[in-house]
Amino acid sequence: MDLTTEEVKLILTTLKENSNYDLTDYSDKSIQRRLEKILDDSQLDVSRLVDKIISDKTFPKKLVEMISVNTTEFFRDPEIWYQLRYDIYPQLKDLPQINIWHAGCSTGQEVYSNLILLNELGLLDKANVLATDINEQVIEKAKTGEFRYRFNYEQMANFDKIINDHPSNCDIHRGIPHSKYFEINAKRDIIAVKPFLLDKVMFRQHDLINGDQSFMMKFHLILCRNVLIYFNFPLQKRIIKGFCNNLNQNGFIVLGHHESILEPAIFNLKKQKEYYVLKNKS
Ligand SMILES: C[S@@+](CC[C@H](N)C(=O)[O-])C[C@H]1O[C@@H](n2cnc3c(N)ncnc32)[C@H](O)[C@@H]1O
Repeated sequence: MDLTTEEVKLILTTLKENSNYDLTDYSDKSIQRRLEKILDDSQLDVSRLVDKIISDKTFPKKLVEMISVNTTEFFRDPEIWYQLRYDIYPQLKDLPQINIWHAGCSTGQEVYSNLILLNELGLLDKANVLATDINEQVIEKAKTGEFRYRFNYEQMANFDKIINDHPSNCDIHRGIPHSKYFEINAKRDIIAVKPFLLDKVMFRQHDLINGDQSFMMKFHLILCRNVLIYFNFPLQKRIIKGFCNNLNQNGFIVLGHHESILEPAIFNLKKQKEYYVLKNKS
């Protein structure tokens, strides 16, 4: 079903007025595509969807979970992991504690990748890791640390790139086996993160738009990758401002490949091939 701009507006305004979710500043195209798919899959038309948002108190949460795009991978976009390993963590390694926030963590593969890297760098014990997402279902999945092997095993090549191979000299192979961090049962199609990593992270449902933006601590590193692309420009700006307020002096914000940054004056902005790294100077 093709939706008009007015119909998308009607659905999002109804959602805003009948729940705590305000998706009115999501980027037009991505939200329109998702809503069209939801309507096709559920065989609803716009007026029935609107009625459901108003009459069924449990539906807004379900709708938001259907709208959210949860694609993620272990060690997604290797370049950023090299940057973390060889540039960012060396600048944070002497801190007594490293506070890290994964905002929009989806099912957790990014978070566990980071914990593995921290462990290899000898920094896991001093890492204090919070991981949040608007979608409660993905948070519950992330907490289990258990994934379909079939959909995740190819990403072990990126594990090897980051953990075992030195980027400037591919001959150096440190031979860390995947079994150090994962229980793999190919027959049962399960790859499970080992419990000592599960225990190191606090997963929480949290909405970057309407959620409480004050935290118990300031962060040294905020990763928010492949989330802002779904927001329009003013909302991106608001979220980045919120990150700055929650960032320690000399802390870093790491964004994804397609995400650009506004107001570069308040940052040292380093645009690399696949990501942005921002360093807070204020
Ligand atoms: C494409 S995934 C990115 C996952 C991971 N950061 C990565 O790059 O592999 C985007 C995630 O952002 C979450 N998200 C979308 N809107 C959000 C919001 N308002 N607050 C918090 N999380 C949100 C979605 O639920 C989804 O899990």
